[in-house]
Amino acid sequence: MPNTDRHDCIIRGTVVSCGPDVAPQAGTDALDVFTDGALHIAGGVIRNVGPATTVFAQAGSDHPPVHDFRGRLVVPGFIDIHTHCPQTNIIASYGEALLAWLHRYAFPAEERFADPEVAEETAQFFMDELLRNGTTSALIMGTVHAHSADAILRAARARGMRVAAGKLMMDRNCPEPLRDTAASGVTQSRELLRRWHGAGRLTYAISPRFAPTSSEEQLTGAGQLALECPEAYVQTHLAENTAEVAWVGELFPWAEDYLAVYEYFGLVRPGAVFAHCIHMTPAARQRLADHGGATAFAPSANLFLGSGLMDYPTQAALGVTTGLGTDIGAGTSFSLLRTAATAYQIGALYGLPLSAAHLLYLTTRGGAKALGLEDCIGHFAPGMEADVVILDPEASPLASRRTAVTTPEETLFALFTLGDERHIAATYVAGQPVTAHRSTHG
Ligand code: GUN
Ligand code: ZN
Repeated sequence: MPNTDRHDCIIRGTVVSCGPDVAPQAGTDALDVFTDGALHIAGGVIRNVGPATTVFAQAGSDHPPVHDFRGRLVVPGFIDIHTHCPQTNIIASYGEALLAWLHRYAFPAEERFADPEVAEETAQFFMDELLRNGTTSALIMGTVHAHSADAILRAARARGMRVAAGKLMMDRNCPEPLRDTAASGVTQSRELLRRWHGAGRLTYAISPRFAPTSSEEQLTGAGQLALECPEAYVQTHLAENTAEVAWVGELFPWAEDYLAVYEYFGLVRPGAVFAHCIHMTPAARQRLADHGGATAFAPSANLFLGSGLMDYPTQAALGVTTGLGTDIGAGTSFSLLRTAATAYQIGALYGLPLSAAHLLYLTTRGGAKALGLEDCIGHFAPGMEADVVILDPEASPLASRRTAVTTPEETLFALFTLGDERHIAATYVAGQPVTAHRSTHG
């Protein structure tokens, strides 16, 4: 078949992606590695993946243009399953733990989103920053303002990205300008859901900020909305900080624990993503797994706010679906490479150093699983959407030196330890390059 789409291409390089359910210390057998490999992309999806010789032979003589990244790693686009667009402007703000940090930094930043132009400009910057860091999909929190979700989803649509976002629901325990009501929170969320859910690559996320900032009436409404639309995501925070957990105990004295609040209101189900999950018993983690909820592990934010260390061994042993979240602006980087480096360090503190295969899983396929998108994004196979990142080990002198003579697995591990946005040579969204190429052959 002649190539008719100007964006069809064959990407050549060391192609690496994950199989299903990669264990914390899995080795290369959990990865599909083609050292001289290729991805044939047609119409925004992967047509073929494998050794370069096979992919070229099957593409025939009139194959589309080749983007030659030999010497670089070709991996699936990264998936950030918990972050806050409106907090871009307060990343790296000094000195507070969660509850004080919300009042001193996060809420004032979110109040500025009352101005639709601020929301618009920040969303554009935020989306470009994701792409610069190799993140092609994300689950994103807006502010209480309905137009925040519009701005985020419009910016994602303009870039062709697979993104989910939602307006926050908050009707108490926050500054007055950031409050909706139990009724308006649900009505606005429903309108947004109807407008955006399933529009191209976009999805809506029902987004009660966390239990303390929603009344029981509002949580009831959020649960009803979740019931109305079982395919919508639910995103919120859970058990991040000990003072927060104690406060939830005071606000919901009838609940057995923090998770039980969300369970009671019907918010724990497949497609529900709970950020942090630090201060939880193994039994509560088991309930989360049993109900199909997922955890967004946000190690950089957890350290930055001094919130604690998520018990990764227990989380993994119980099989709780887990992806990574940068959690901007409590998190300190947009880069999932850097976030994975911190995940590794927390694993190491628990005596469970995470392998390169698992770190790749957390940044790609694990996130896809948490979002119920394992059949669309997160690994390479024919028919999958072609979100692709090119990792360049030679983009910094140190990584270049460290990876001079290594296996692809060692190179991957070195990039998860030393890497940052300098090492993102290119990002492709649905087969289209969206950042400048630095290929070996121009
Ligand atoms: N818990 C409730 N809101 C937030 C937030 O904005 N960031 C973090 N890290 N935790 C929260
Ligand atoms: Zn968060």
